Amino acid sequence: MRMVAVLAVAALLGAAGCGSGGDPEPPPPRTVEVFTWWAEGGEKAGLDALVARFAADCPGQRFENGAVAGGAGVNAKRELTRRIARKDPPDTFQAHAGAELTEYIDAGQVQDLTAYYDAWGLRAALPAGLVDDLTVNGKIYSVPANIHRANVIWANPAVLARAGLPSTPPKDLPAFLDDLAALRAAGVEAPLAVGRDWTQLMLLEAVLISDLGASGFAGLFTGETDWAGAAVTRAVADFTRLLSFGNPDRDSLDWPQAERLLIDGKAGYQLMGDWEAADLTAKGFPGYAWFTFPGNGTTFQWLADAFTMATGTLNMAGTECWLKTVGSAAGQHDFNAAKGSIPARTDVPSAGLSAYQQSAMADWRSGTPVPSCAHGSACSQPWQNAINAALTAYTTRRDPRALQADLALAADQFIRR
Ligand code: BGC
Repeated sequence: MRMVAVLAVAALLGAAGCGSGGDPEPPPPRTVEVFTWWAEGGEKAGLDALVARFAADCPGQRFENGAVAGGAGVNAKRELTRRIARKDPPDTFQAHAGAELTEYIDAGQVQDLTAYYDAWGLRAALPAGLVDDLTVNGKIYSVPANIHRANVIWANPAVLARAGLPSTPPKDLPAFLDDLAALRAAGVEAPLAVGRDWTQLMLLEAVLISDLGASGFAGLFTGETDWAGAAVTRAVADFTRLLSFGNPDRDSLDWPQAERLLIDGKAGYQLMGDWEAADLTAKGFPGYAWFTFPGNGTTFQWLADAFTMATGTLNMAGTECWLKTVGSAAGQHDFNAAKGSIPARTDVPSAGLSAYQQSAMADWRSGTPVPSCAHGSACSQPWQNAINAALTAYTTRRDPRALQADLALAADQFIRR
């Protein structure tokens, strides 16, 4: 009922914005503040493409950029919390689909968008599994713009060639460790580029997928797999072996700085989500190679960027139009072509997308999906924060048993049973 009223009001506002009803002076454009952490490289290119579509689709509305830089939203999420607390939310903000959104929903900080799903045909256009993941107690609170894949290794083929290695994937995790050792022996001191906490969590998750399998991994976030068990002990040992091939200053690098090590030939590999594809191209390095993290098989670790309507927005019609653009086939095509991810909608043609994206689209259709904790589809924000803190502590303590104990403690504390 409430949403029906909201839609009616928004329609009226939209009509007023067109200057109808004989009014000679069209009202000034209204502003939609869009809050993201997309501030440079491929991320900014993606945002710009969406904004161009919004300008065409939403006359009378003006985009205001509320971006706060920092990979995976480390700074943006903190700033958002401050703004919401002082009752100054942006009109719409980026948030990951899945568990991470529940914090905002529970606190009443985002509006119910279920009626728009029906009005805009989104239920039919999005994969049923994604719609299920987005649904909380029968309601949906965000519109997904894309699907990103987290468990990808990006490689610099020229560096690999120095050690006589091909750019093709090592067959499993032990073979990958052998390749890292071969690179080091060939003079590449830190062959695996690693960045700060959340990028280490991505690496740990990829190792957990290799060592526990897709369902064992997924069970870590539902309570079915024991974080204190022997399989996780093995994975932590593999993870620490991998870190020993990384750059020692990892905690002080955001992902683009770790990526720079790859571009400059100081590292051979980096594990990163597929925003890296567009970013490497944007930074003049289109000759990258990629493969799924060794041992992950056909597991597709997914995450999705979604947009919300903040509670308290003063520009309902404009925010509604932004969300409609985000969910539209044309919006998803243009945005994803620039961002490196693939459309969340299943009806967007792949023409015009990169070779990497074509392969990701095929893998998304055929692979086994598992969610990501580093990017909010698997775990809540406090849980993610606790794991990130444990990883940072590992850098100084270098104690794998303490790391596993911290991981198990975080799960006990934050799992929703
Ligand atoms: C977001 C991506 C973004 C990446 C790096 C992820 O959490 O989902 O859109 O490119 O962080 O900033």
